[in-house]
Amino acid sequence: MIKSIPTTDLRLGMYLHKLGGSWLKHPFIRNSFLLTDAKDIKRIIDSGIKDVWIDDEKGEYIAAATQLDLATEVKLNEQDKAVTVETRPPVQPTPQNKRPLSMDVAVEQARKLCSEAKGQVKLMFEEVRLGKAIDTDARDALVNEIATMVDSNSAAILSVARMKTHDDYTYMHSVAVSALMLSLAKQLNLDENVTKLAGIGGLMHDLGKVFMPIDILTKPGKLTDEEYAIMKKHPAAGAKMLQDGDAEAEVIDIALHHHEKMDGSGYPHGLKQEEISVLARMAAICDVYDAVTSNRPYKNPWDPSISIRNMAGWQGHFDKNIFNAFVKTLGIYPVGSLVRLASQHLAVVTEPGIESLLKPTVRVFFSVKLKVPVLIKTIDLAAPGCKDKIESPEDPAHWKFKNLDSFWQ
Ligand SMILES: [Fe+2]
Repeated sequence: MIKSIPTTDLRLGMYLHKLGGSWLKHPFIRNSFLLTDAKDIKRIIDSGIKDVWIDDEKGEYIAAATQLDLATEVKLNEQDKAVTVETRPPVQPTPQNKRPLSMDVAVEQARKLCSEAKGQVKLMFEEVRLGKAIDTDARDALVNEIATMVDSNSAAILSVARMKTHDDYTYMHSVAVSALMLSLAKQLNLDENVTKLAGIGGLMHDLGKVFMPIDILTKPGKLTDEEYAIMKKHPAAGAKMLQDGDAEAEVIDIALHHHEKMDGSGYPHGLKQEEISVLARMAAICDVYDAVTSNRPYKNPWDPSISIRNMAGWQGHFDKNIFNAFVKTLGIYPVGSLVRLASQHLAVVTEPGIESLLKPTVRVFFSVKLKVPVLIKTIDLAAPGCKDKIESPEDPAHWKFKNLDSFWQ
């Protein structure tokens, strides 16, 4: 339900549906987003906006009496970049104010966002196909929405964006690569503006595919050499379109160079090592990870954890340091991975480990010894007293389980 509340009643966790007042007078590119940063609340109040509309279905709504006193000072701790909120007595910040969105709530929000985003990307790509300019306001607003979701719970948006059908592949792939780029940029501590460009570049990296023949794009099988040669033109086609539309140099670079490889064997220019920009090196990793973990007409998706192991073994393809940061972003066992526990049970990772990448939360469902399903239970492998641990990743292709993703969705 949409509610109008005074800006002084705003708190973290609320979903801002609309800001009051003129769009030109407030400091935000987007009008609707989840409030995850106390600085944003302060900026809204400081901009002089008196009332806002919130959506209590997309975020939390708690009555004013229990809220943070917003006559607060927001300070940025320069050491760890953590935002601390000092409140005046008697209201004190609670742990809830700093807790990320729960996985269940975040997955639901990510699903809604991905559904909307897919439609918006489709529209953007179709307009380009018709020779129209890209609506950069809509583009930036969408990337901001994705960035907000990444900040709230990156595992949720990254996992939901991995889910695709054959029909929506190109559009959902764009959303997924944007979310991966934003997460990776955060992991690499890139500054705010570069992070935003990374997200935009991720969204637009495959724009050139709108000019590729549809029968090659949707071919349910391996491409012939001739077809592959045609497909290899999509980076240049996309970059040209972006250049004609006065896109940022970084965004054009990502579109043009996301298929380059560190050893010089990529395309279109065969660039090597530092000749490839950091953003393009990031895009190469995000693009491949999303492609191999997605369902395609010619192959089943690879397991997320096995994808990471396989990619780590590809010599000369990726920048090793950026790849290590990418693994930290997703976890060694990303959400959705099938794993074998020391207790000889199979489980699916449902939430990343907060303390350790090796200790996620899992849902146990099968006994390897007895070869039968067991009562489904959720185990936090980092919980004190938990004696089980992950023994190895498990390739779903060796088992005939259907819809393992239902364990975390
Ligand atoms: Fe591409």
